Amino acid sequence: MEKLKPLEKLKLGVLISGRGSNLQALIDATADPAFPAEIVLVISNKADAGGLLRAQAAGVATKVIPHKEFSSREAFDTALDDTLRAAGVGLVCLAGFMRLLSAKFATSWHDRLINIHPSLLPSFKGLDSHGQALTAGVRFSGCTVHFVRPEMDAGPIILQAAVPVHDGDDEDILAARILEAEHRCYPLAIRLIAEGRVTIEGEIVRIANGKFADSPLLNPIG
Ligand code: GAR
Repeated sequence: MEKLKPLEKLKLGVLISGRGSNLQALIDATADPAFPAEIVLVISNKADAGGLLRAQAAGVATKVIPHKEFSSREAFDTALDDTLRAAGVGLVCLAGFMRLLSAKFATSWHDRLINIHPSLLPSFKGLDSHGQALTAGVRFSGCTVHFVRPEMDAGPIILQAAVPVHDGDDEDILAARILEAEHRCYPLAIRLIAEGRVTIEGEIVRIANGKFADSPLLNPIG
């Protein structure tokens, strides 16, 4: 019998600035031959980002594009854009990439650019989302995977995980609890996109054949 040709995988370009634990979650997910996406390139704007070592250990191509070597945000973004396109990237995944991208970049990758943010957006945008959550006294925080629009930490929401906040949490404890959820959310969101199940209707994401949680979460429970 003739062998079936494997379906082409969605090609991911992952942008990082730091330790790369979300990148590691993507490396681990894509190691499964059944996962419908593959990482073709990891780009860091910092030469000392720990995530570069994780990519290299997994045999994934890396490139450092130091933002400091560019005279403007636009010039840096153009270099990013050229590099991603040359690698044949179909979906750009921001994974702890701590540089604001220009509106031009966000527009040219419209619906092909996603981010993970450590809060339940639209709450607690920007830096220090855990400090903001603790100051607000919310009983849940969490993480959000969303399509990127030119405004910071905005865009159609694909998936969220709610994570309880405990009395006595500090920023590090809360960040660690949320990070665990991030590592589950990012591969799942990418899988939904790669399976062609994600559509955007008027800036609201719909998931074809999505399985949705149906019970309320309580915190505290007594
Ligand atoms: C993650 O918590 C991610 O959500 C956050 O940076 C951390 C990167 O960790 N991103 C943002 O705050 C973007 N606004 P990692 O390098 O271990 O993946």
